[in-house]
Amino acid sequence: MAILEVENIRKSFGSVLVLDDISFSMEKGTVLSIIGSSGSGKTTLLRCLNFLERPDTGIIRVNGETLLDASFPARDFQRNIRLKRLHFGLVFQSFNLFPQYTALENVTLAEKLLAQEKPDWKEKKSEYHRAIEEHGRELLAEMGLQDRMGNYPHQLSGGQCQRVAIARALALNPDILCFDEPTSALDPELTGEVLRVIRGLAERHTTMIIVTHEMAFARDVADEVIFMDGGKICEQGDPKEVFGNPKQERTKQFLSRFSET
Ligand SMILES: Nc1ncnc2c1ncn2[C@@H]1O[C@H](COP(=O)(O)OP(=O)(O)O)[C@@H](O)[C@H]1O
Ligand SMILES: [Mg+2]
Repeated sequence: MAILEVENIRKSFGSVLVLDDISFSMEKGTVLSIIGSSGSGKTTLLRCLNFLERPDTGIIRVNGETLLDASFPARDFQRNIRLKRLHFGLVFQSFNLFPQYTALENVTLAEKLLAQEKPDWKEKKSEYHRAIEEHGRELLAEMGLQDRMGNYPHQLSGGQCQRVAIARALALNPDILCFDEPTSALDPELTGEVLRVIRGLAERHTTMIIVTHEMAFARDVADEVIFMDGGKICEQGDPKEVFGNPKQERTKQFLSRFSET
């Protein structure tokens, strides 16, 4: 069974149709790259998947469970929205770390808030916190940040901040981890360390959707690539095929523009 099924997602802002009938599915443990020009709707698609935008039409299913059916009333969208969001993790271009919290606090914050909803939280608070911090330290160590747990974002490089953001997104064990241009805000010499940790996650079969302008990375790390153009999926398939032998004229144009710059 597919881990994610997206059917007929449409989204307009005012009179502008930004997502035009997007459908795709992905299998657990695979990596999907999404490429396309600026303005083609990539961020809006990730925001719809993460319940930050409500699509006008369409269905989103995770592990066979329908999380969104836009034909249902709008209030349905809000119902259990926090639970629905837990299926997805999102790593933003600009990290969005809390500046007033250390790396470890950024990673553990959401888990601690969730633990407060446990019936025995009051009695077992310190046990919960100890376990959550242990988990946070493990995740940061996995990101190569064992020496940086107590640092605040302003004391970290962009690459380190992004790795904290990845650890934070992993903390709640999402079914699908989404990246929106995770290296676009980084100096070129820092992109490598972030791409390396994402590659490591792919090797451990983390299910991921990666919007990126790093074409070589998209080709090498992904099992499937989608090229978006004007809010539509213009071309989709095996990265070796799409990059090596694009079928659509728009894909050819886009990829050639990339190899020039
Ligand atoms: N909240 C919004 N209100 C109005 N227009 C928006 C909003 N968000 C995105 N758009 C428009 O939707 C289109 C797609 O944007 P986006 O999803 O950010 O594309 P991409 O991530 O591929 O660059 C753009 O034309 C953008 O201006
Ligand atoms: Mg974008």
